[in-house]
Amino acid sequence: MADECILRFENVSMHFDGDDAPALDRVSFNLMAGETIVLFGAAGAGKTVLLKLAVGLLRPVSGRILLFGRDVTELREQEWYAMRARAGILFQEGGLFDSMTIEENVSYPMLNQKLVEIAPEEVHRRVEEVLQFVGLPQTMDKFPSELSGGMRRRVGIARATVTHPKLLMYDSPTAGLDPITANRIIALLIKERELRNTASMIVTHRFQDGHMLATFRYNPQTDKVLEASPEQREKLHTRFFVMKDGRLVFEGTEEELDKSTDPYISKFTMQRV
Ligand SMILES: Nc1ncnc2c1ncn2[C@@H]1O[C@H](COP(=O)(O)OP(=O)(O)OP(=O)(O)O)[C@@H](O)[C@H]1O
Ligand SMILES: [Mg+2]
Repeated sequence: MADECILRFENVSMHFDGDDAPALDRVSFNLMAGETIVLFGAAGAGKTVLLKLAVGLLRPVSGRILLFGRDVTELREQEWYAMRARAGILFQEGGLFDSMTIEENVSYPMLNQKLVEIAPEEVHRRVEEVLQFVGLPQTMDKFPSELSGGMRRRVGIARATVTHPKLLMYDSPTAGLDPITANRIIALLIKERELRNTASMIVTHRFQDGHMLATFRYNPQTDKVLEASPEQREKLHTRFFVMKDGRLVFEGTEEELDKSTDPYISKFTMQRV
C-alpha cells in the first residue's frame, strides 16, 4: 500500500445552529490510499455529516481537514470543484436526477467538473464502460423511475466512479436492499477498490457488508469476488469505525470489533449472519 494520506481529519467538530449537541465532536483519523473504512453508528450519530465535511458540502466549526494532502478547511467554493472531481460520493438518498436519462446522470460528473479533462467523444464510451461494470449496460436511455431501487443504487455507483476518483465514499449503499443485491453491491465496491487502489469509506448498518469488505478480494483473472486467504486479508486494509453522538467511539479491525464488550459497539456485530 502506498503510504499516501488521502483524507485526514484533525479534531473536526460540527455544530448546527439551534442544536444542543454537536453533530460531530472532535473527530480525528487518517484514510490512506488503498484503505477501506467501514463506518457504523446509530441514526443521527454523524456519519453523513462526516462524509459531507470531507467533500466540502459542509464546513466544520473547528478542526482541520486535509484532502489529498491539502488543507481544505477554509477552501473557497470555486476551489472545491477541482478537489471534488477527485472524490466520488454515493449519497444516501441516491441523488440521481429524475428528469435525466441514466446516460445523462452518469455523464454528469464528467461534463460538470471542468477539471476532469475527458474528450467529448470519450464521455459516451466511459458511460458504457461504467454501466457495464455495474451490470446495467441496457439502461442508457431509461429514466431513474423505470429502474428498481437496487438498480438505481448501481447507477449511483457508476456515477460516483466514472471519473476514476482516488477517494470514494458510499453513504449506505445497501440500505433497504435484499441480501443478494446488497452483496452484489459490496462486490462492486471491492472490485473498484482493487482495480484502482482507491481509498474508500462505506457507511452501513449491515455487519455483513463490513465482513465482506474485510475478507473478500477481487480476482482479475477470473473476474470474481472471492473470500481471501488469511495472508491476502492483510492486504485488504479494512478498518472499522463506530460513531456515537458525533464521536468516534471505536476504531479497529474486524477481530477487535468482534471482541468488544461495549453494549453500543457490539450491537453492530450481533447482526452477523
Ligand atoms: N443540514 C442539517 N441541519 C441541521 N442539522 C443537521 C443537518 N444535517 C445533519 N444534522 C444533524 O446532525 C446530526 C447527525 O446527522 P447525520 O445525518 O450525520 O446522521 P447519520 O449518522 O448519517 O444518521 P442515519 O443513519 O440516519 O443516516 C443529527 O442530529 C442531525 O439532526
Ligand atoms: Mg446518514
